[in-house]
Amino acid sequence: MNIQIPRGTQDILPGDIEIWQHIEETAKKVCERYNYQEIRTPIFEHTELFQRGVGDTTDIVQKEMYTFTDRGERNLTLRPEGTAGVVRSFVENKLYGQANQPTKLYYTGPMFRYERPQAGRMRQFVQFGVEALGSADPAIDAEVLSLVMRIYKELGVSNLKLVVNSLGDSESRTAHRQALIDHFKPNIAEFCSDCQGRLEKNPLRILDCKKDSSNPLMDSAPSILDYLNEESSQYFEQVKSYLDAIELPYEVDPTLVRGLDYYNHTAFELMAEGEGFGAITTLCGGGRYNGLVESLGGPSTPGIGFAFSIERLIMALKGQNKVPEVAQKLDCYLVTLGEQAKLKSVELLEQLRAAGIKADKDYLDKKMKAQFKAADRLQAAFTAVLGDDELANNIINVKNMETGTQEQIALDELTLYIEKEIQGGK
Ligand code: HAM
Repeated sequence: MNIQIPRGTQDILPGDIEIWQHIEETAKKVCERYNYQEIRTPIFEHTELFQRGVGDTTDIVQKEMYTFTDRGERNLTLRPEGTAGVVRSFVENKLYGQANQPTKLYYTGPMFRYERPQAGRMRQFVQFGVEALGSADPAIDAEVLSLVMRIYKELGVSNLKLVVNSLGDSESRTAHRQALIDHFKPNIAEFCSDCQGRLEKNPLRILDCKKDSSNPLMDSAPSILDYLNEESSQYFEQVKSYLDAIELPYEVDPTLVRGLDYYNHTAFELMAEGEGFGAITTLCGGGRYNGLVESLGGPSTPGIGFAFSIERLIMALKGQNKVPEVAQKLDCYLVTLGEQAKLKSVELLEQLRAAGIKADKDYLDKKMKAQFKAADRLQAAFTAVLGDDELANNIINVKNMETGTQEQIALDELTLYIEKEIQGGK
């Protein structure tokens, strides 16, 4: 049998890749407008980074990591998310010591999770994410949310619901943690073995369990918002007032806990409302992680960020019929007839491309009619036709494929002519 693609992965072929490029370019431009800079970190890291960063009791670390030992007996993992690697790099490269703080970074690249594949849930997926490190100002929380909403808006996705919550600081969480233990303990036998293990280690994770989500004790669980201390609740109020100031609508959902352990204070998700999503409704997730830098060996530094997958964003665009027309079109296709003209066309093509014009020609010795068809298929704006007769007279026939008008021009003016026409059309 032929070798097939691994489960939960996909090929992105020409014809589909243009939408990916469009999304990545749009997202990068928005990030740069908000003064975020790109960072690229390795696709694999030491496994311990994710155990410590994402958290030992999370589904991601317990069940979903692609972990392997390399030939030097190192324990490595394909990154399941981007934040831990970015924070490791921030610490390792002492970015906290640079003059401009906060350090505002964005990244994109493949992430890997061994999940049960379904629409919008892949084993290899591409995240686009942002991390702002070094500021505990609630205005940064609003900035990060404004940034992600702007990316979605500029790509044309509508009907998004922003859901926010606060997970509080460590004092608030300790109080909430005890309340959760007291709540679940008498009936913990009803829960799955993972949740039983989580009860004492990390009861907040129980709220995120996929298996036990319909247990009535989930709905009646104590809400973190009732356990926020003064400072945490003030912080949350400030975040909300900044969101109000920039007129970003949101809903508060006290059950939003997120699937990674590093969060405190602000946590948020962007949900898609409407058709075309199936079971997947979360497009983007993020939040504040003020203890993560320190836990990875850096100085105490607050941080906040988000990530979304491009796969789910494309699902949103498709579900809402908003996939933009971003097909690659040619500026000029050269059609030739005769041996001498063919030789000349290689030279002309070189000149056109050197001038920045997107041009191509036939390489299969096709008949003239078939060459015209190829020009049509490639949506060439102009076709330049050269036969040995034209060549002998130093001329070339140029056809505007949209209007159908034809012009005969001097051969050495072709590049200039196409350049001018294209600029005029823009
Ligand atoms: P996360 O919620 O695990 O957070 O993932 C963020 C986003 O990645 C999800 O909302 C979804 O769009 C996408 N995603 C996750 N798993 C899959 C999958 N199997 N297939 C397709 N898309 C998926 C994080 O990863 C955090 N690092 C976000 C963050 C950044 N928090 C602070 N900074």
